[in-house]
Amino acid sequence: MINLRTMPAYTFPEPILWGSATAGHQIEGDNIHSSNYHYEQAHPENYVEPSGKACNSYELYKEDIELLKQLGHQAYRFSIEWCRIQPEEGRVDEGAVAHYQDMLDRLAAAGIHACVTLVHGSVPWWFAQKGGWDKVENHHYFTEYIDYIVPRIADRVGSWIILNEFNLGRAVTPAALQHKVGSLKAHCAGALAVKQYSKAPVSSAHAFVHQDPVRPLDKMDRTMADLSDWLINEFFFHAVRTGEIVLPYREMEFVPELKQSCDYWAVNYYHRTPVTGRTATGVGTKLEFSRCKLVDCDFGQREFNPESFMQCASRLTDKDVWITENGICCDDDRVRIIYTMLQLEAMKMALQYYPALRIKAYLHWSLLDNYEWSSFVPRFGLCDVDRKTFERTPKPSAWFLKEVIERNGFSGALFEKYVPELSCFKLYGGENRSMDITIN
Ligand code: BGC
Repeated sequence: MINLRTMPAYTFPEPILWGSATAGHQIEGDNIHSSNYHYEQAHPENYVEPSGKACNSYELYKEDIELLKQLGHQAYRFSIEWCRIQPEEGRVDEGAVAHYQDMLDRLAAAGIHACVTLVHGSVPWWFAQKGGWDKVENHHYFTEYIDYIVPRIADRVGSWIILNEFNLGRAVTPAALQHKVGSLKAHCAGALAVKQYSKAPVSSAHAFVHQDPVRPLDKMDRTMADLSDWLINEFFFHAVRTGEIVLPYREMEFVPELKQSCDYWAVNYYHRTPVTGRTATGVGTKLEFSRCKLVDCDFGQREFNPESFMQCASRLTDKDVWITENGICCDDDRVRIIYTMLQLEAMKMALQYYPALRIKAYLHWSLLDNYEWSSFVPRFGLCDVDRKTFERTPKPSAWFLKEVIERNGFSGALFEKYVPELSCFKLYGGENRSMDITIN
């Protein structure tokens, strides 16, 4: 059994590039030309609250970079909002280009590796109206955008992420599968377009969610888990490894260029999904005793599941692995430190179990408490953001991570320093509550 307080000091055998990740729509604010902003205004009933000024980072980006420096981050993943560069079809906003160029200059001056995401969840509203990624005939808008923006910034970018998490979704409807294929082809076209101007490694961020059968010996649970795993995870790895786009109830397509579309595996790892053959969705519930309700809303019943990271990592030993997101939403910051300790332990164990595995980077999600796509309640940040003044305040977990970065490792003593006691551990009550636990 692991005691987080007495763990021996461990140093990762190779240097890891440490830092944090954010996304434009979630932090910049006033992202008025994006599809998301449009939907938030048009359908407020689907949102707890709109993104509004988010963390006001479009104005306060210099402060964010100072924060990264203060916290010792070596790398920063952020997205460039396509809709700011091209607010309307055919129109370029040079002020927005200059903004991101200045940001990249400042990161370079601070010696911080810039990992640039080209599209993280939000696209220009004009592009969404044309049908977005699903229509392959739209992809030239994206590659033309790349032809414009990438040469203007490439010399300061350390790594690229073309799209974020298009792999999610287990539906097998023609529309759902078409969305997947369209996104995969857009990723491929985008990756090849970027490579014309940049030698920096290219990938797309994969939400690697372990599809875990609820009853591991039950044939239907296992079949559903295998199917979900193919739909969510393996179709992507298979496509990149072989060029074959293989999805259920579709003719296989061979796109050989896919084999050049990822120089590394970019993995966003958070948790697992229990899979069952006994519900219409295929998704089971997490066992009551393993569920955590750590923010005052129903947010996927997070649980601590570091062993699933090992399952995922074991499948990615053929390219460098970058953990491009990992974190937890909680109001009690000590939980973030516990979660991160367990993740670091899982990384250590994975490296020991799978000697061919190469973990090159760890980017914590997220630098700031930000807009979680429909609400500000789930707080993933290493830093608190005052919702009125936008003042940023690092939490203890930020200082904890700084020491991890300095050591390229972790120890029980470090945990003890930041979490000296856990006597008043707060778990929320309510409909989806976990059990009432007090940890002394
Ligand atoms: C997404 C982020 C999101 C985070 C936490 C990831 O899947 O890339 O945008 O905020 O999860 O839910």
